[in-house]
Amino acid sequence: MDADSIPVHPTPVRLLHWANAIAMLVMIASGWQIYNASPLFAFRFAKQITLGGWLAAGLQWHFAGMWLLAINGLGWLAYGLVSGHFRRHYLPLAPRSLLRALGDAVHLRLPHQVGVYNPLQRAAYLGVLVIAMLLVASGLAIWKPVQLQELTALFGGYDAARFWHFFAMTALAAFLAIHLTMVALVPRTLLPMITGRARPSRELE
Ligand code: HEM
Repeated sequence: MDADSIPVHPTPVRLLHWANAIAMLVMIASGWQIYNASPLFAFRFAKQITLGGWLAAGLQWHFAGMWLLAINGLGWLAYGLVSGHFRRHYLPLAPRSLLRALGDAVHLRLPHQVGVYNPLQRAAYLGVLVIAMLLVASGLAIWKPVQLQELTALFGGYDAARFWHFFAMTALAAFLAIHLTMVALVPRTLLPMITGRARPSRELE
């Protein structure tokens, strides 16, 4: 272990993050398989990026991933709220600082201190929490439309809930594409998310 390194990401955050990443990738790829059996739009997802091979197996993957996602998601919420992780790392989030960070990012100025999230990251991590909750709620609405009919009605009925579920997936996939692009642009953030430790960094661009 590097003697100069300091802890930046606590073990629960790392475990929850990587389990969540696996669950999300399984859910998205198997969801695309299910979508292909009854598309909402005039396109299907390429077979190579779907999981399961056919509808029934896609559903099995989706339901298996669902439990990991749900249990891990509850763990994430409980840890984030009880330990103060969300409050300390995602807040404060002032609109002015968010606009400034957006301007910086547009000009590819990406100041980053490992272990400290900039306003754009804070907004994205809070936003993806809301999107994930919407995904789960709309998923429940189309999984159990009879038992959970009040929830399904809240989304405007079964057919409308399918669209909500699809658009929430699209928002999550967009988050993931941006998240992975940022990791590729600032690759020194990746190892600390695995080992938990990093050398104290100056703000580098
Ligand atoms: C599968 C590939 C993924 C990779 C390689 C990856 C990588 C990373 C890295 C390197 C960080 C630390 C960023 C930093 O220190 O600035 C991070 C943080 C984070 N990622 Fe990911 N991520 C992945 C998937 C996901 C997914 C699917 C989600 C959510 C849907 C997600 C949500 C988050 C959140 C919320 C944080 C902040 C963690 C905290 O609260 O401290 N990531 N990710």
